[in-house]
Amino acid sequence: MSEVEPPPGANAAATRAYLAALNGEELLRWRTAPLSPRPSPQERGIELPLPFGWFAVCYSDELAVGQVKSVRYFGRDLALWRGEDGEARMLDAYCRHLGAHMGFGGRVHGNLLECPFHAWRYDGSGAVREIPYAKIIPPLARRACVRHWLTDEKNRLIWAWYHPDAIEPMWEVEEFPETVSPDWTDFERHEWLVHCPLQTMAENGVDVAHFRYVHGTASYPDWQVRMEGHRRETTVNAKMETPRGSVDGTITAGVVGPGQPWTRFTGICETLLVTGCTPVEIDTVHLRFAFTQQRADRDGPRAGVARAIIRDICRQLDQDKVVWDRQRHVAQPLLCDGDGPIAAFRDFFSQFYAELHRQSGPKVVAPQRMRRKARI
Ligand code: FES
Ligand SMILES: [Fe+2]
Repeated sequence: MSEVEPPPGANAAATRAYLAALNGEELLRWRTAPLSPRPSPQERGIELPLPFGWFAVCYSDELAVGQVKSVRYFGRDLALWRGEDGEARMLDAYCRHLGAHMGFGGRVHGNLLECPFHAWRYDGSGAVREIPYAKIIPPLARRACVRHWLTDEKNRLIWAWYHPDAIEPMWEVEEFPETVSPDWTDFERHEWLVHCPLQTMAENGVDVAHFRYVHGTASYPDWQVRMEGHRRETTVNAKMETPRGSVDGTITAGVVGPGQPWTRFTGICETLLVTGCTPVEIDTVHLRFAFTQQRADRDGPRAGVARAIIRDICRQLDQDKVVWDRQRHVAQPLLCDGDGPIAAFRDFFSQFYAELHRQSGPKVVAPQRMRRKARI
């Protein structure tokens, strides 16, 4: 059996039990394994383009001053480096001279990235600033690349702006004060490779009916969702079961553009989940969950509950992944009255597909509010 296979023929409860039994290294391997066999995107009906927006490409502490890293996102090989000024920069990995991959053996020279092959040195715009063995830098090489990658560093993550037409950022990365507060813990980190388009994952948040069948919840609480411009926000008032009985809690979840989801849990144990969901290819997403909790909760008498919250959220993601990894994209789904606002969500998400708006101009999403009591 492949490592990404759930037990053959298992029903949802057996799949949950199988996942719950995986731990430590075994679980990490399962979460990040390649999909095998891997049907082509076409076979799965995945013809969605990559959405534009800000996406996490690295944790800040994974890139030291003077370090170069090779990463692959947006269907491209990329080289990421941190200059002596502390700033993170990113370029397409292949050198404009003779095509060496600068993420392998490249080094940092001041704030420039030096190619390992003949030491051409690039600034963050992709312009060649120095060639140690040449008297003249070719004029074309002196120009910035059409596609250079704007980066930002917030919430202890490095973010890159992706747009297929290299259009400048249309909004900023949102900063969460908890991520720089001494009263909140360092991140507890979890990661997955999910084999589906980003839109499929994002749709899960409005897919009301799946909670019962995939996650085994008895009901789904009262919730409201609001979509406006490039933001979507959902508020859920939930009764959460704890060892001390049922507690009223609130979950607020939002997403800034397609690539910066966040979730705040209040009432039982203050928790912020900062999420990075970055397309690797059109059918693969690298997902990062970074949890921070109030130190008073995490180190105090509620430490058990604090850990349980994180464990449960990650387990839910594991359960979703089993479906997402094999799901076909249905462009025109047949929906029923018990489904959540899936059509409205898709309309919202489509604003991030530049390819759809090249003819018609950018889409303006009017505010929409929805409120629903689940009937599942
Ligand atoms: S290939 Fe990069 S400097 Fe020659
Ligand atoms: Fe889910």
